[in-house]
Amino acid sequence: MSVNALIADPRLEGRALKRIVYDAAEIARRVSELGAEITAAYPDGELLVLGLLKGSFIFLSDLVRQINRPLHVDFLVASSYGESMVSSGNVRLVYDPETELDGKHILLVEDIVDTGRTLNRLMELLQARNPRSLEICALLHKHIAEELKYDTKFIGYDVPHEFLVGYGLDHAESFRHLPYIASLQ
Ligand code: PRP
Repeated sequence: MSVNALIADPRLEGRALKRIVYDAAEIARRVSELGAEITAAYPDGELLVLGLLKGSFIFLSDLVRQINRPLHVDFLVASSYGESMVSSGNVRLVYDPETELDGKHILLVEDIVDTGRTLNRLMELLQARNPRSLEICALLHKHIAEELKYDTKFIGYDVPHEFLVGYGLDHAESFRHLPYIASLQ
């Protein structure tokens, strides 16, 4: 997409982008690969894909359609950023999945791992419910996530320390619907 096309994108509310980091075609290619990896990693057992809202909603919906085996979907809602561009570390659980986790393979799906604090808290909570296995799939991973105590088994991309929006990621709730991932000016 050209610079002029970016400026003209009516979804941007007049904001300028620094650059498009991953366009829609590239994301689709990588999500398809992740789906194949996940399909191969779970040859048997019940698989529950747990999407962490709101950020994962687009990634999750694309990802589950690339996983070629039976699965169920549920969601978690946690919030840590508020309207700031800096992660606060205050993880708040707003919605807890109703689905029974006991004995199931749980795949927790995140849009982005930043500091890792959200996942540290959620993994503790989910582990206590006695799943058969518990793994993380994150589309984006900032490898400054030094605080993350858990391995991220499935990672879409290692990303630089830039503030990213689009494909589910927001700034003050805007830009989640961009079909690409971009850094804001
Ligand atoms: C963002 C993002 C991750 C989390 C990562 O969520 O979607 O869940 O922060 O940050 P951390 O690794 O530093 O904990 P946010 O709280 O902004 O909510 P949202 O998903 O509704 O955008």
